[in-house]
Amino acid sequence: MSGKYEDKIQKLLSEMTLEEKAGQLRQCGPSLVGAFEVSFEELLDMMFDGRISQEEFNRLMGTAKQDFREEDLKAGRMGSYNGIGDAATVNRLQKIAVEETRLGIPLLFGYDVIHGFRTVTPIPLAESCAWEPELWEKTARVAAKEATAAGVHMTFAPMVDVSKDARWGRVSEGAGEDVLLNSLYGAAKVRGFQGEDLSAEDSMAACVKHFAAYGAAEAGRDYNRVDMSLQRLWEEYLPSYKACVEAGARAVMPAFNDINGVPCSVNKWLLRDVLRGQWGFDGMTVSDANAIAECVNHGIAADRAEAAQMALEAGMDMDMTSEAYIENVVQLVKKGAVKEEVLDQAVADILRVKFELGLFDHPYKTSEEREKDAMLRPEYRAVAREAAVKSAVLLKNEKVLPLKKDAKIAVFGELAAAREEMTGAWAIGADGNDCVSLTDGLDAAGVSYIYEAGIKDGAVDEAAVGKTAGEAEILLCVLGEHKEQSGEAASRADITLDPSQQALFDLLVKTGKPVVVILFNGRPLAIPQIAEKAAAVLEAWHPGVEAGNALADLLYGKENPGGKLTVTFPFASGQCPMYYAHINTGRPGGKSKFTSKYLDTPLEPVYPFGYGLSYTQFAYSGEKIVRNEDSFTVSVKVKNVGERAGDEVVQCYVRDPAAKRARPVKLLKDFLKVHLEAGQEREVAFEVPFRSLGYYDWDMNYVVEEGEYVFYLGGSSAECLSIPAVL
Ligand code: GLC
Repeated sequence: MSGKYEDKIQKLLSEMTLEEKAGQLRQCGPSLVGAFEVSFEELLDMMFDGRISQEEFNRLMGTAKQDFREEDLKAGRMGSYNGIGDAATVNRLQKIAVEETRLGIPLLFGYDVIHGFRTVTPIPLAESCAWEPELWEKTARVAAKEATAAGVHMTFAPMVDVSKDARWGRVSEGAGEDVLLNSLYGAAKVRGFQGEDLSAEDSMAACVKHFAAYGAAEAGRDYNRVDMSLQRLWEEYLPSYKACVEAGARAVMPAFNDINGVPCSVNKWLLRDVLRGQWGFDGMTVSDANAIAECVNHGIAADRAEAAQMALEAGMDMDMTSEAYIENVVQLVKKGAVKEEVLDQAVADILRVKFELGLFDHPYKTSEEREKDAMLRPEYRAVAREAAVKSAVLLKNEKVLPLKKDAKIAVFGELAAAREEMTGAWAIGADGNDCVSLTDGLDAAGVSYIYEAGIKDGAVDEAAVGKTAGEAEILLCVLGEHKEQSGEAASRADITLDPSQQALFDLLVKTGKPVVVILFNGRPLAIPQIAEKAAAVLEAWHPGVEAGNALADLLYGKENPGGKLTVTFPFASGQCPMYYAHINTGRPGGKSKFTSKYLDTPLEPVYPFGYGLSYTQFAYSGEKIVRNEDSFTVSVKVKNVGERAGDEVVQCYVRDPAAKRARPVKLLKDFLKVHLEAGQEREVAFEVPFRSLGYYDWDMNYVVEEGEYVFYLGGSSAECLSIPAVL
């Protein structure tokens, strides 16, 4: 390995003892110790399964303190910490590492900065609906400025797990079901997190995750097995991680899941052949939490020692919190089970990233002084508000939006006044009180409305709802999910609305007044009745700290929604996984009984991938194609035929109707978001290289076939102009 720091790395390695090398591979979280007799993990289980109440849990936690294992740190048995987000603690621990250990190797501090640190921006699934790489990079830059001020050196993001199953709670954390969008989203995030210079005080290393194909967990059940053809793995799942590696991500986190029976944490083909061999990755790998030790549960390792040995040999550099490495690596090397050069390679990967971050020259990359006024700056809130506006998707509008300032409005639903819920999953550095709720936003906008939560103890308060609805002309019904209902360990077998929410909506519809539904959720929901009976539906997702202000801007027309769905909204939970880039089958669903469909649901989704409305309208015409030497140029005219300016995402899909392996009926190849004034028309052209039309044949050869193709251009996967082409 040649590189700027290799001599320094080799010199350090020559001075390190086996114990110190094993220490560099160890990442710990602040463990919690207190007056409770059981482990913190057991205490959590006791609370989750109801053996102790939340109040009892909180009381016990009040007795807890964080144990940072300083004695281990001083002994050189610690390389990194996870989950410490304050400058004082970071610098205190760093000082021990640098000044009180034998070699003074600085610590690496990792943290989950998934969609903002204190200035929480929309959840990734939401932000992906903006179809705007510049925005994705911008919000990542804000996250980096705040998180690094708090002492973070590496974020465990971006998450680019393609997910086609709405039951999986972690669909909220990535860019949806399409591999191109996840690739572009991830690369933009890597650029935003890492900046121009990784050693700069406001840059942090990106750790792309979860490598690989975690989003294909069987049945959408978190941590479940992943089993697929290598063709599908290479075509539909690996590209998004590769895009992040090519964008310069300096860390990769292997996923909890197995791939075809071999857990990613010990998957040598994945971590050495693909990641390092084929993609040339020379950063570090860090396991997911406890994942190395869990290879025993997977049925791959007989015990923790064997799990440690397999992981190290597979190319897993750092052990996040399982302790399998620190317990076993020295012995494994001493008894010859693992060669010392294998250990040295892992240590070298970690030292390389520490050098690149500038930690050896500037181990204290932040200060309490800098941290003090680094958070929630007005310009950061402005970015969060822009992102929340652009993430929203207008799904239905029967001329009821935008609202008039003097309209008599009633607002219903507990989520309307909820602040904390607006952060969504994985906002661990945030304070929910920083959030602007929908009602806060309406107040700030100076609009008059009356509010009734409408649901008390899980039941609809019909009298209160009826009274409030009687005093208004337009009813805003706020529905969706609490933030705990998506994210990690939050799979749902039933993705319909909670019954009380559905009952509230049905009661409001019965009044005969127009009902505008606003959705705060972390995944696609099966909401056919809402789609049918609401006068308007605005998908706002979990929009972050500026939720209420962004929603007020959209509801009253200060902003025009322009988002497009990056996930399919199925009609029923039982249709999952449901996604646009599907293959046709020999009997594509149709009127005839003997075709691929369900007896009890329609064929089409409630809302398709790529779909989203605007307060204006766009018309497409003039589609054409030119065959170049090694690409097609596909173009179309798009005109704003409405009354006001707006954004439109022009999408370009392709189909290979006769290939050696069946190809998707549509596959996104490119897109462009355009802003058009009323009446303005623009021609949009896409250059599609022939090579990008290829796929893996039965023998895993990447082939680009001559013959017929069909291109599709439009503002949704379900509404396109088609153009035939011959390669
Ligand atoms: C979690 C998640 C991973 C996260 C890590 C550290 O279990 O799977 O996404 O980065 O632990 O918190």
